[in-house]
Amino acid sequence: FQKKSLAGKRVLVTAGPTFEPIDPVRGITNLSSGKMGYAIAQAAWEAGAHVTLVSGPTALDAPYGVQRQQVQTAQQMHDAVMAQVSTQDIFIAVAAVADWRVANASDQKIKKTNESDTPQLQFAQNPDILASVAALAKAPYCVGFAAESENLLEYGTAKRIKKNIPLLVGNIGHQTFGKDENELVLFDANGHQALAKADKKTLANQLVSEIAKRIQTN
Ligand code: C5P
Repeated sequence: FQKKSLAGKRVLVTAGPTFEPIDPVRGITNLSSGKMGYAIAQAAWEAGAHVTLVSGPTALDAPYGVQRQQVQTAQQMHDAVMAQVSTQDIFIAVAAVADWRVANASDQKIKKTNESDTPQLQFAQNPDILASVAALAKAPYCVGFAAESENLLEYGTAKRIKKNIPLLVGNIGHQTFGKDENELVLFDANGHQALAKADKKTLANQLVSEIAKRIQTN
């Protein structure tokens, strides 16, 4: 009998897109399906962890064994994460969080009047959830994701340092949203390492083993 690699650990995962309202029936979102984050939450549970998944709107069922909290906006995701992160050992930020919210969102549905009169949206910056967690005095082991469309090795190395996190996972190519397969590169203080193209479930299991290896020696 071998002890599971994350036995006794508490893992918090964000996944999916966020949804930023324009008015009660409209909003801004992105093409994240949540598949990678959900697969990671499932893999962490299978590795013996207690897993909480803070998820934006997706079409996916909660992974078996995982405690899911559903949110819509980046601010709600931030608040849900910050409320419980102090009890966590590992934080994995997989969500595609909207960088901006609509600052002048309307409480009522915006009416179409005439062609020259179009709504003017203003934006405010959303909190960076991963940066907020990484900045905590007692931060859990933080894992970030990066979807770069070019120069992944260069940008990935720089982003890990800028985000002040021990492990950053780069998506190779930017066509990953909604797909069942992915190809990843892991960046840590020792350099980078590729995980060959595979389905998201396989990659999630590999990533969880890589995280487990790193926290053992942390
Ligand atoms: O800076 P960039 O958005 O490329 O960083 C991506 C990483 O940061 C992902 O892990 C994502 O979940 C996280 N992030 C976050 N909050 C934001 C923006 C990004 O947690 N507002």
